Amino acid sequence: MEFITLKKHIIMNQLDIPFVRKQFPALSGEWVYFDNAGGTQPARQVGERIQDYLFNTNVQLGASYEISQLSTQRVAEAQETWAKLIHAKETAEVILGPSTTMLLQNLSRSLVQTFNPGDEVIVTNCDHEANIGPWLMMQKQGIVVKSWKVNPENYRLELHDLEKLMTDRTRLVAFTQTSNIIGTINPVREITQFVHDRGAMVCVDAVAYAPHRAINVQELGVDFYVFSLYKVYGPHYSLLFGKKVHLEKLPGINHFFIGRDEIPYKLQPGNVNYELSYGLLGITDYYENLFEHHFENKLAVIADKISQVYQLIEKHEEALATKFIDFLNSHSNIRIIGERTASTAVRVPTFSFIIDHKKSSEVVPLIDLQKIGIRWGDFYARRLIDDLGLLSNHGVIRVSMVHYNTPEEVSRLIKALTPII
Ligand SMILES: Cc1ncc(COP(=O)(O)O)c(C=O)c1O
Repeated sequence: MEFITLKKHIIMNQLDIPFVRKQFPALSGEWVYFDNAGGTQPARQVGERIQDYLFNTNVQLGASYEISQLSTQRVAEAQETWAKLIHAKETAEVILGPSTTMLLQNLSRSLVQTFNPGDEVIVTNCDHEANIGPWLMMQKQGIVVKSWKVNPENYRLELHDLEKLMTDRTRLVAFTQTSNIIGTINPVREITQFVHDRGAMVCVDAVAYAPHRAINVQELGVDFYVFSLYKVYGPHYSLLFGKKVHLEKLPGINHFFIGRDEIPYKLQPGNVNYELSYGLLGITDYYENLFEHHFENKLAVIADKISQVYQLIEKHEEALATKFIDFLNSHSNIRIIGERTASTAVRVPTFSFIIDHKKSSEVVPLIDLQKIGIRWGDFYARRLIDDLGLLSNHGVIRVSMVHYNTPEEVSRLIKALTPII
């Protein structure tokens, strides 16, 4: 009789979507959220953790009294757990901060002090400005900044173009794992190896990638790696990984009496946000819930559980993406700004497109009326939209999905878009 109690989603090896959606209070309403690359809905457990922190342990860290000891422990646990989750070697390699933009500005302020005038940095033209602007600021200190541009035919960053830009003065290459417009997954490990072979470091923006895959910074070999937790089912907060060997050498940007060996504190001026740090454990609670619901094996290591959960997520996202890309591909007046495939080996389900003879700004408000949240614009990847000649088109229309979306929601969107096309 035992087989009767086995759950269908386990037998089918697929994500139990009603279960997933129950974890997100915002999804109980009538709106469809397809602006997830702008920000995902938070898991219920995130809100619970933040409330628990604020109501029960909201005191200054580091004092000797009991509640302060507990709050210190809670914040430390968040940093430790996320270090494990991304496969950092040590907790000290995880720096938390208010946003990816701010973390990269802080990193640049510190890193520039270790560069010499005439040293070179390479940025791309397809990154969000968060991973371009801070490096351009280095020009004021005599650093030469060059631009690695995507191939406008296939929207890919190509190594032979990077090779032409690199010299023995190149110190850093800043690029994106996945552009928040194009959606293609760049081969980070390969690019990193290529850059390391030429004696430079990499800084990778994983903001548009992190909601869709498990992360392993050691496997990628990256020097610096950053993403925003509010796009990974959490609060408005961000995480920067830096290899300890680099962090140790960086001058701090905190108070003068914070020592050079106080990693990551010397790079967290003003300290972290306590309740949001603790809130990050709500994301891992959510992942743990997913794991326990979908798998019968008992794994001890959080990163292993997450990696299994993301295999289910990937499969579900590919099904959603296939439905939508088939629709886009079936219309000759739609130009996809990115790969025309749903394959998860190639892309994440963030789709940008334009419709012939229509401004992107004309289309989206019509979809709003159907209570479907999508978006138009440059998404702060202004240089890419400009280089592709799409500024006058008011940028692109972007539809970005995550695993809590459903095939029925994709059908609703297709139905809403069809009369407009
Ligand atoms: C790819 C990418 N990088 C960086 C950022 C900036 O993140 P934050 O808002 O945390 O500064 C965004 C935000 O949309 C993004 O999409």
